Amino acid sequence: MKKTTVTKAIIPAAGLGTRVLPATKAQPKEMLVIVDKPSLQYIVEELVESGIKDIVIVTGRNKNSIEDHFDYSFELENTLVRDGKTELLEKVNYLSEMANIFYVRQNKPLGLGHAILKAKPFIGDEPFIVALGDDIMYNTETPVSKQLIETYNKYGASVIGVQEVLEEDVSKYGVIKPVNKLDERTVSISDFVEKPLKEEAPSNLACLGRYLLDGKIFKYLEETKPGKGGEIQLTDGILKMMQDGEKVLAYNFQGKRYDIGNKIGLLKANIEFGLRNEETKNELMDYLEKELKISK
Ligand code: G1P
Repeated sequence: MKKTTVTKAIIPAAGLGTRVLPATKAQPKEMLVIVDKPSLQYIVEELVESGIKDIVIVTGRNKNSIEDHFDYSFELENTLVRDGKTELLEKVNYLSEMANIFYVRQNKPLGLGHAILKAKPFIGDEPFIVALGDDIMYNTETPVSKQLIETYNKYGASVIGVQEVLEEDVSKYGVIKPVNKLDERTVSISDFVEKPLKEEAPSNLACLGRYLLDGKIFKYLEETKPGKGGEIQLTDGILKMMQDGEKVLAYNFQGKRYDIGNKIGLLKANIEFGLRNEETKNELMDYLEKELKISK
């Protein structure tokens, strides 16, 4: 694959969020709050901090609040100016200026591979990041997407961000088969299986929602038939691309990942980000200590 600077990303955000209903009945799951920001903002920030300039968010029905969040809000910003609330004003202003954000609708819920295909005209044949809306990453030194870009810059190949998961959890993820170690964190791979049974999993190295893909992937996704769950799987498209001779690597990224697509993941993210937030950490810690003592 020809090396080019990676400046584009896709965030698929068209899912129905059924695991956190009824919260997601009338609002997108990507807008559920973690401390003081919707979860999607954490992902956009990670991308911006990784050098991404243009982001396309693949949305669906009921997702208008996402567009409003990253837009200029004349009323709100005027009120904050009038009231002299400069700190808040900066936080709000920043949202409409942090990146160029574009939107496309998925129309039909045909799977992650199908959602990615919707962004094809926007990406062209450039390499790009895919950051899944359910997966929030925490790394204050090198954002996870940046780690993938650095790996791409080093090897000139598509990269899947992986981490070890518990054996009993492999059936929740796309799982790779590692072959040769290229460095401490990077391996070449020979297989990529979407949500395998525990007994059939090629390893316990799971893809946790970050990919850096060559623009060639679209050709393969166009040919990909529905797979697991009757959906067009990104995993299957990547496997096809690999089998056709394109190099795909896996990178064991550094950082903590939160799966905010389910209740417990959302709660954990709120507690841990709350304990890191200057404004909330002390009070939250006192509260948790007290609560835990009482419940013992
Ligand atoms: C998707 C992908 C899967 C990946 C996972 C990471 O699954 O299909 O390969 O491991 O995200 O979160 P989903 O969780 O959307 O079913």
